[in-house]
Amino acid sequence: MNDENAFYFGSHEPLPTLPVAVWGTGNMGRAAIRAVDAHPGLTLAAVVVSSPAKVGRDAGELAGIDRHLGVPATTDVEEALAVLGGRGAVAYTASGDLRPDAALADVARCLRTGAVVVTPALYALYDPRNAPPAVTGPLMEAARAGASALFASGVDPGWGNDVLPALVSGLAGTVDEVRCQEIFDYSTYDQPDAVRMLVGMGQPMTYDPPMVAPGVPTTVWGGQVRMLARALGVELDEIRETLERRPLEAEVTNAMGAFAAGTQGALRFEVQGVVAGVPRIVVEHITRIDAACAPDWPTPPDGGAGAHRVVVAGRPRIEVTLEATDEGDNRAAGGNATAANRLVNAIPWLTTAEPGLYDGLDVPLTPARGRVSRAGRSTP
Ligand SMILES: NC(=O)c1ccc[n+]([C@@H]2O[C@H](COP(=O)([O-])OP(=O)(O)OC[C@H]3O[C@@H](n4cnc5c(N)ncnc54)[C@H](OP(=O)(O)O)[C@@H]3O)[C@@H](O)[C@H]2O)c1
Repeated sequence: MNDENAFYFGSHEPLPTLPVAVWGTGNMGRAAIRAVDAHPGLTLAAVVVSSPAKVGRDAGELAGIDRHLGVPATTDVEEALAVLGGRGAVAYTASGDLRPDAALADVARCLRTGAVVVTPALYALYDPRNAPPAVTGPLMEAARAGASALFASGVDPGWGNDVLPALVSGLAGTVDEVRCQEIFDYSTYDQPDAVRMLVGMGQPMTYDPPMVAPGVPTTVWGGQVRMLARALGVELDEIRETLERRPLEAEVTNAMGAFAAGTQGALRFEVQGVVAGVPRIVVEHITRIDAACAPDWPTPPDGGAGAHRVVVAGRPRIEVTLEATDEGDNRAAGGNATAANRLVNAIPWLTTAEPGLYDGLDVPLTPARGRVSRAGRSTP
């Protein structure tokens, strides 16, 4: 057996159990607790929260698992890291959106103790090869000091535009274009500030949504395009952006309130990796606040609220659509769960890697070995 296939058919020895702390219990943190609980090689050792109201509550309850996991949430970071005993891992799922420097400092602190870290919170680190040295330098130094490793990733940006299209491209012959689409209806995404202010839904068409301001999509998704170019062995001339927006034809109301007719109801943007003048690698988002807006734009094939799709145009033409649901038929929760699982399931590999910073093409996507039929077990 060669090394390439070792992760499918390798050792049948029982996996060594690693202690894991989950830091932050929001959307991703809940899913990360469930991911650690599901993994036979990992043991949930600590849960760190910032909200005083969550202190002392059991991890199982916080994560929506129907079992007591025997791990009460704490605000004491020092104690939580001490429980790991200088090894194991931290799933850092506290938000880094409004506190990037604090999140970076937290991650460096964990690495320095000897724990490997997985996180969706640091977008600049999704493509560490191209991240600013001011960001990677302190983390590399911490990883060397702790002999530890970091993997930052998510869905999109994340597996939807690195490991999945790279894998699917392996089924292709000639390739004209690799397109990664996120098609989402945000009407059930109960984050009113992000939806209205950042994405611009419900704002006048004269409003410039910060999420798609010139250069921002490239900052967030350009690393994924570069990674895919690396996987496909092509040199990019440049990365380009496109943007289209559509107004709502009639007022719609959802859990976030009313969205008036004539305000922004949908947007569609692309981040294009251009090879010899032609877009060959494309990350595309189609985002609506109402399923009826922009009916001529792509929709999820099953009519649901969201999907991730890879289209390899070429010979043959290949389309793969992935629709994940969790927390009561919720597509956003399904996507978050896949991201949390991708990160948490990377922990055993990271503990065997050289100290450093790794991306979605470095870290193998491993099969769910040992996780079949674990949901019904009665003991933690
Ligand atoms: N690339 C992707 O596909 C993707 C997908 C989803 C999320 N993300 C990223 O992952 C991160 C988490 O997202 P999420 O949806 O889970 O966010 P969320 O639901 O808002 O949860 C974030 C958690 O951060 C913790 N927190 C908030 N303020 C804090 C502070 N000042 N200090 C320490 N902890 C604090 C809170 O945890 P406690 O209440 O437990 O204290 C909160 O629940 C974000 O940075 C987000 O951008 C990426």
